[in-house]
Amino acid sequence: SAVCIPSLDEFTMRLRSTFRRALPYLFILSFLYWLNYYFTSNVAPPPSFHDTSIPISLNCTNSSVAPPHNSITCKVDDIASLFCLKSDLEVYFPFSFLKKHLDVSGKMKDGQFEWRTSYAKMRLPEKTYNSSGLFGHFATYSVETRERVKCINPITGVPMSTQWNVIPYYYPIQIAQYGLEHYSRLITQGEEGIRSVVVGGDSKEWRGAPGSLDETSERVFFLDESGKHALNFSTQDDVSNPGVYVTLSSDPDLSTVSFSFKSHSPNSSFSILLTVKETNQLVLMHYVPRDDSRCVWNEETKKMVDNQVTFFYSFPFVVGEWVDITRDVLVDAARALSTIKDKARTKKEANVILRTGDISMHSLSFRGHLTIRQEIIQSMAQHEKAFLHSADWFVANQDSSGGWPVGVERKVADGRLSLPSGWYSAMGQGHALSLLSRAYLRKGEERYLLAALNALKPFSKMASAGGVRNEFFSHPWFEEYPTTPGTFVLNGFMYSLIGLHDYAQLEKMSPSPPSSFSLSFSTASSLFDEGLSSLRALLPLFDTGSGSMYDLRHVALNTPPNLARWDYHAVHVYLLKWIVSITGDETLDQVANRWIDYANGKKAKHN
Ligand SMILES: *[C@@H]1O[C@H](CO)[C@@H](O)[C@H](O)[C@H]1NC(C)=O
Ligand SMILES: *[C@@H]1O[C@H](CO)[C@@H](O)[C@H](O)[C@H]1NC(C)=O
Ligand SMILES: *[C@@H]1O[C@H](CO)[C@@H](O)[C@H](O)[C@H]1NC(C)=O
Ligand SMILES: *[C@@H]1O[C@H](CO)[C@@H](O)[C@H](O)[C@H]1NC(C)=O
Ligand SMILES: *[C@@H]1O[C@H](CO)[C@@H](O)[C@H](O)[C@H]1NC(C)=O
Repeated sequence: SAVCIPSLDEFTMRLRSTFRRALPYLFILSFLYWLNYYFTSNVAPPPSFHDTSIPISLNCTNSSVAPPHNSITCKVDDIASLFCLKSDLEVYFPFSFLKKHLDVSGKMKDGQFEWRTSYAKMRLPEKTYNSSGLFGHFATYSVETRERVKCINPITGVPMSTQWNVIPYYYPIQIAQYGLEHYSRLITQGEEGIRSVVVGGDSKEWRGAPGSLDETSERVFFLDESGKHALNFSTQDDVSNPGVYVTLSSDPDLSTVSFSFKSHSPNSSFSILLTVKETNQLVLMHYVPRDDSRCVWNEETKKMVDNQVTFFYSFPFVVGEWVDITRDVLVDAARALSTIKDKARTKKEANVILRTGDISMHSLSFRGHLTIRQEIIQSMAQHEKAFLHSADWFVANQDSSGGWPVGVERKVADGRLSLPSGWYSAMGQGHALSLLSRAYLRKGEERYLLAALNALKPFSKMASAGGVRNEFFSHPWFEEYPTTPGTFVLNGFMYSLIGLHDYAQLEKMSPSPPSSFSLSFSTASSLFDEGLSSLRALLPLFDTGSGSMYDLRHVALNTPPNLARWDYHAVHVYLLKWIVSITGDETLDQVANRWIDYANGKKAKHN
């Protein structure tokens, strides 16, 4: 007998869980029907299947024959009409319809069809939160491969965004996440794990291109003012000139190149040549001393020759000063290749991601009139450098109000609110606190502390006065987007609390900060406490009974509710668990656990 057919007396009750029980069929049927199923547009929000108390039995393991069925038309509320299948006792809907209508997902796995209410995995912090430790699962983040990251700027060493503007700009949240990602990877990987080789240490490794005019160009090797091996040379500075070069190691793990040089002429440049193995494409990247807002581009006028593509990175270094360069060539090549516009590809498809082993490096060449330290380090990813570049960017770019202004306009709530260029984000301020605190713990340099201390200022200033603070029924809230009226975004608020906590923790840590910072630690601590009590008071407003709200715009602006996508719901759960691990708050823990249940299809009960 067909195991999945329920007995008659169960029928009425089971109809309510039809969708779940019928999964193995739904998938097959969705294939049969996807071509011709039809339903009207404007699908309403998912109907609610509130009662989760009915045990769902999936006793289909022994069934090899689908029950007999006929095709019928099904109506869904008054919004859709589509083909369904009907057997004697059951009705089957195409999964492609249910997926969209109920905002669920599903796929074949090990010969079974698996329905998932949430496509996002609910990850939980592994350990109690540690202000000098990993920043969540940021070690698995990859800011540099995000489609909206245009380049890692060669001068500042931090990412530039094109999320809200075609001209790349610095977005503090993204830069801090880049820094925290590399800090977390640094801890995960451990420094002993970093392999490297020196190239160019032997003078014989420095060569001119065979046959070029400059093959015989003079190369003077000497010990520079700090006793390091260096060489002087000069070649024509046109980028078509092969210049003076060293061969790079082809070890796939050693994708990062670091060196120091001083240019004596304004048009000096360097270039990296590599092959993308899969396509056998040669990629030539010129780092030229131009200040070009595109950051990285390819010259459209030069068509591809011999499967080689040439890119330029804007790199306006200062003539006559030592410049330290560290480039992750995998990242640079991927960002460069992502700039190639192909109308056939969506923005997402055009985003090239290269992984260890995907490229093979050939050479590093120089042109112009230069002094170069002879030893070029080729290594695995330099997480500490990336982390410190990011922390240093925050030290160098803080304004007198203690904020890091975002230089592009931000429209919120479908354009109903707008933040003119120059706004601060509580999430950016909070991330900066988390990053600068870790930079201080690692390097012991007071400049990181000082920047963190000043970063507290906008937390006490109302959004309407240029700060990041708003109030919701007199509960203070730190705003990711400090509009007036506020929107009360939950995840950005919780990230800002983590930042305040990280900074306040420094007082108890080593190296112990100067006593002049004591007051700022108690300021951070009371800001955290204020925020925590707002979180306790307002969290219920974010609970929909089947998921969470991204923000409170429906209350503040009278708009429809802005439900959190499942991946944001997962972030909410993760952040709540962090805060529970910091505060031991049981109520917040209960909410977090309930929110995990929502993601597993267990909704709150109705009356
Ligand atoms: C599943 O089927 C087996 C064998 O037919 C039966 O013994 C068992 O009770 C069934 N389980 C449920 C939950 O219906
Ligand atoms: C599954 O089907 C086989 C063959 O019909 C039968 O021998 C076996 O007992 C069934 N098992 C269950 C759990 O129903
Ligand atoms: C916190 O993390 C740091 C860095 O990994 C580690 O050295 C320290 O022991 C950790 N502290 C605790 C209490 O786990
Ligand atoms: C290297 O070049 C710089 C700039 O032209 C010059 O000042 C310096 O003396 C040179 N050093 C040697 C050893 O030639
Ligand atoms: C540098 O290059 C620019 C553009 O190619 C050119 O106009 C300028 O004269 C060059 N400067 C020197 C000092 O060669």
